[in-house]
Amino acid sequence: MSEEEGQLEARLEEQEEFEPPEGFVSQANVTDEGIYDEFEENWPDCWTAAADLLDWDEEYDQVLDDSNPPFYEWFTGGKLNVSDNCLDRHLEERGDEVAIEWIGEPTDEDNRTFTYEELHREVNEFAAALRDLGVEEDDVVTMYMPMVPELPVAMLACARIGAPHSVVFAGFSAEALATRMNSADSEFLVTCDGYYRRGDALDHFEKANEGLDGVDHDATTVVVDRLGDEGHGHDLAENQHDYAELVADNEGAEIDPVERDAEDMLFLMYTSGTTGKPKGVKHTTAGYLAWTAWTSQAVLDIKPDDTYWCSADIGWITGHSYIVYGPLALGTTSVMYEGTPDHPERDRLWEIVEEYEVDQLYTAPTAIRAFMKWGKQFPEEHDLSSLRLLGTVGEPINPRAWKWYYQHIGNEECPVVDTWWQTETGGMMVTTLPGVKQMKPGSAGPPLPGLDVRIVDTEGEEVEPGRAGYLTVNKPWPGMLRTLYQNDERFVEEYWAEYSDVDSDDPDDWVYFPEDGAKIDEDGYITVLGRVDDVLNVSGHRLGTMEIESAIVGVEGVAEAAVVGGDHEMKGEAVYAYVILEDGFDGDEEMRSRIVEGVEDAIGPIARPEAVVFTPELPKTRSGKIMRRLLEQIANDEELGDTTTLRNPEIVKDIQQKARSDD
Ligand code: WT7
Repeated sequence: MSEEEGQLEARLEEQEEFEPPEGFVSQANVTDEGIYDEFEENWPDCWTAAADLLDWDEEYDQVLDDSNPPFYEWFTGGKLNVSDNCLDRHLEERGDEVAIEWIGEPTDEDNRTFTYEELHREVNEFAAALRDLGVEEDDVVTMYMPMVPELPVAMLACARIGAPHSVVFAGFSAEALATRMNSADSEFLVTCDGYYRRGDALDHFEKANEGLDGVDHDATTVVVDRLGDEGHGHDLAENQHDYAELVADNEGAEIDPVERDAEDMLFLMYTSGTTGKPKGVKHTTAGYLAWTAWTSQAVLDIKPDDTYWCSADIGWITGHSYIVYGPLALGTTSVMYEGTPDHPERDRLWEIVEEYEVDQLYTAPTAIRAFMKWGKQFPEEHDLSSLRLLGTVGEPINPRAWKWYYQHIGNEECPVVDTWWQTETGGMMVTTLPGVKQMKPGSAGPPLPGLDVRIVDTEGEEVEPGRAGYLTVNKPWPGMLRTLYQNDERFVEEYWAEYSDVDSDDPDDWVYFPEDGAKIDEDGYITVLGRVDDVLNVSGHRLGTMEIESAIVGVEGVAEAAVVGGDHEMKGEAVYAYVILEDGFDGDEEMRSRIVEGVEDAIGPIARPEAVVFTPELPKTRSGKIMRRLLEQIANDEELGDTTTLRNPEIVKDIQQKARSDD
């Protein structure tokens, strides 16, 4: 490092607050700090600002109907269609502009560019095909697809005909697919033959078929041919159709966008919770689209002429909201990349930023930690001066990683927005408005205007600045989940019961609890500390410990299992499994790999345990509850807390030794 560079690093290391870069502010979508007061005074009518970003077939009567909390309804009486808003309305002015810029993993493959006109055409053709196959309004269509352009096409085609989609991340297992299709009674599946991952042509269709074997009703399937000659040569069964043929059969078809009620379901997304069963989060048409469009404009600063890139997978909520719906509602160019950041080389993302002159990059802390570890020479090889804004999402970002991103990717000219939100919130909730607010690395920032977020203790009283507490949202917002699919009771139980008076019909008595710990500073900036329930955050992916435990217990020879999260330098958290075997089974390598396989089969490789520790007992309280805190401390090789309340304190040292010798 040169002396000059060394000084720069030292200066940044000490700096705790960063002003929004002037060059950014001078062109930002939102620059008036008054928006915070204005939204507070005009709540809930302030949200017409979001609704105004959409085209309505019929105006809404009411901004918020809060007569039956927590079943809030937004923009009631309004009618609109999401595909119309993301496509048709842009055609006249922006038909020739690029909507989706798709980049495959193989570098010698041509990118696929869809202008709004072209995307509109293909969405219409596929919507017609879905209708031919028997998809009707309100039928749930499952998509089990990697990052191919046909995924957003299928989502928008569903939206066009009023069929909610349920996208299952392609990295999830066959079993996970089956569970979700059964839970949603979904009779249609759109999937894909395969995709590229670090140079290999992976077989995806085999996994999809295995999943279909576990579906307890008939399902009509559409298969996209991604791999062509490199495919795995599967034959299609009778109720399985080739995507390209269907689209060709419907060439030139035009399907009128179905008028949907504001509160009609747009999609379902399954996510992990405290119990073993994934939760089907329900999002609706108007509130969700208004929320993603408004936050895309206010926080990501998206303008129609931008080339915007969110490097998430569409199989997660980040991709739904900020690759597909928000950006396309605003008529911008959204980049979609199939591969990983380190293939063929560790500069792949920077090569893409340079080649496509990307304006905004939205990625995850786990990726930033990897970039940091690989070194600044990779971004330095490329011209990144097109970048105007950087964003992160998915887990807390430590100040060092934040500053590295700010300096080496943004050249100190781009604001960094650290955005806190969840599958359930539909879009961003806590983050700085980049043209208005100072940034404080390590803190996501204040709540967005119009949001009432408080950090409270177990009694619901606000805690002093600097003290750890629980994050709560005290007023509804348009992008919020409406319920858990066909399970209103669990919806109330999971998100509201903790801090609400559940017998009240006064909305002021209802508080949303996202299950995150947090603290707030004197300026109202919130630092999110992480989940306080039994949910892990591995590389920004949300995994339920119960789901993993039940997968492990399903392995022959396993009597009991406890899963906790241990700190991990790159992944943030990693899965640690403590396992008790049945008599006659050995904790050997074979057992270990059967357990790992069991988890991969039930959930997917992302849930693979980092360590499996065999033990004759688990530390339990006198009432028989597993003391997870101790298991976490063991995973982190930390000093152990109080063990006196345990029924079996002697086991702890034993487990600790085993865990250490396994490292
Ligand atoms: C959980 C939600 C938001 C889309 C991707 C994940 C954690 C998310 C941040 C952030 C600290 C964050 C929370 C949250 N989280 N963003 N900026 N800082 N933590 O969605 O799978 O529903 O997970 O991710 O713990 O509850 P998800």
